[in-house]
Amino acid sequence: MTLEDIAKRMVEGGKSNAALTGAGISVESGVPPFRGKGGLWEKVDPVEFAHIEAFRRDPAKYWSIRGPFIRDLRSIRPNAGHEALAALEADGMLGAVITQNIDGLHQEAGSRSVIEFHGNVAVLYCVECRRRIPSAEAPLDDLPPRCGCGGVLRPDVVMFGEAIPPGPMIRSQEIAGSCAVMLVVGTSGVVQPAASIPLIARRAGALIVEINPDETPLTEAVSDVFLAGKSGEVLPRLLEAVRRAGR
Ligand code: OAD
Repeated sequence: MTLEDIAKRMVEGGKSNAALTGAGISVESGVPPFRGKGGLWEKVDPVEFAHIEAFRRDPAKYWSIRGPFIRDLRSIRPNAGHEALAALEADGMLGAVITQNIDGLHQEAGSRSVIEFHGNVAVLYCVECRRRIPSAEAPLDDLPPRCGCGGVLRPDVVMFGEAIPPGPMIRSQEIAGSCAVMLVVGTSGVVQPAASIPLIARRAGALIVEINPDETPLTEAVSDVFLAGKSGEVLPRLLEAVRRAGR
């Protein structure tokens, strides 16, 4: 299937097209992925650093990774991949982005319909009194950050060992169940339940277009088309093809 064929299907699908994104889409913005070259989980064990039980035992250890990530995000900008998805939505060719990312870069690029499957680090909440504060206002010099009440603050994200909140879970399943084309971008497709979203879409008859420099377990099992390459390069080409096909 050529880029032109995919573009034609996207024009037919319009707002019922969707995207599922993972850490790979933010790599070209300078955010390291979890797996593979330069991946966070190559350096530290996720069970020790990002599991809810580990957080309860030793929040400072959790924050030794999360604190620098949140600080670094302040100077990180969306890239051409995020921008191409936002442009597809603005053109009426994409109805939603389901993202596993917690960096907020889709919204910063202009995407409006974003389902954050794993939450977002933009907001922290106190594990004792539940007060919520923007992470930009949180004291991150002394970790773990604490609320005025003395309780430890945590980001409003899904940690390992925690369930996906019902809102994003149900919404993602609805979108997958009724989408025409699903773009699966920059995800290794190994973390459940996010990895099953393309499968739901495929079963409901969607065309699954995977974009990734490397093949994943989804490539063989679920994807109809595999576009090899970086999302910051492939997505702008796809956007152009969709615009040509829509004329
Ligand atoms: P991973 O780090 O597992 O996978 C990143 C994917 O991006 C890989 O398949 C890479 O080949 C691909 N990639 C790398 N550079 C790319 C580029 N420039 N353009 C496109 N793709 C590129 O990230 P996720 O699949 O998002 O969960 O990981 C899923 C979940 O595992 C995360 O949400 C997080 C993590 O543990 C939680 O924290 C709960």
